[in-house]
Amino acid sequence: MPFYSEKVMDHFQNPRNVGEIKDADGVGEVGNPVCGDMMTFYVKVKDNVLEDVKFKTFGCGAAIAVSSMVAEMAKGKTVDEAMKITNDLVAKELGGLPPNKMHCSNLGADALHKAIEDYSKKHGK
Ligand code: FES
Repeated sequence: MPFYSEKVMDHFQNPRNVGEIKDADGVGEVGNPVCGDMMTFYVKVKDNVLEDVKFKTFGCGAAIAVSSMVAEMAKGKTVDEAMKITNDLVAKELGGLPPNKMHCSNLGADALHKAIEDYSKKHGK
């Protein structure tokens, strides 16, 4: 096992917010060009706040931990605040990722942002 922080292990073993939101307001899907892993984020928005955030990740443990952390960070934030969550910030919040696993953190915030953009498009914003 490379050097995963306790936080990464925790979010990998007990991922938060896994699943799909059936009546989501926005959906964002991205694939990792490095390894081919896939991540989908679903957002439910009310009064400009992310009421619910869920994800489905077909990827490595680090990618699952990243999705779990992104969802947790985004929930309860306004749309604008959530757009400011960056992949770097997520990696930091997880206590860092091993250098050869940094690419795994590149999907999370991107997928979230795509879901928010999808929401904005559908709602004419
Ligand atoms: Fe694909 Fe980590 S190996 S996201």
